[in-house]
Amino acid sequence: MRHVLQEDGRMEGEGRAIARLRTEHQDIIRTLNIVGDEAINAVHPKSNGTKRISKLILQLGVLLKTHFAHEQTALYGPLRSTLGGDSPTDSMLEEHRSIQRAYERVLAALAECESQASSSQAREGLRFHIDSLQGITTEHIRKEEKIIFWIAELNL
Ligand SMILES: [Fe+2]
Ligand SMILES: [Fe+2]
Repeated sequence: MRHVLQEDGRMEGEGRAIARLRTEHQDIIRTLNIVGDEAINAVHPKSNGTKRISKLILQLGVLLKTHFAHEQTALYGPLRSTLGGDSPTDSMLEEHRSIQRAYERVLAALAECESQASSSQAREGLRFHIDSLQGITTEHIRKEEKIIFWIAELNL
């Protein structure tokens, strides 16, 4: 097991780095679930607006961005260096970009809701895009926890 350089210049053992990524997954899943629950309220015709959900969506964006940066440094970069062409790095980083695009569609749907709060179509659009972000992110995390972390523990 080797050590990876952290952003603050300290060294972190690979096992600890993966433990931190797992904790970040829990934070992301928890926030996604709250956003999903909140979306049901936000789409209700008598909802009191999108203020709460918009704050949660912004928090989720920060969690995702930070987590992807950590994975690039502590997981996918080292896997590519060690495994070369056999590394799952490219396909997993492509999934990060897909999640980012799905998140941007949520932001666009939220803006639509804010500008026309009474439109049921806008509210349903927000709900739809949150559902798809939740699906794609959960699937990606499941793959990392079942396969990628195991590959990392064997090879790094
Ligand atoms: Fe990831
Ligand atoms: Fe992850």
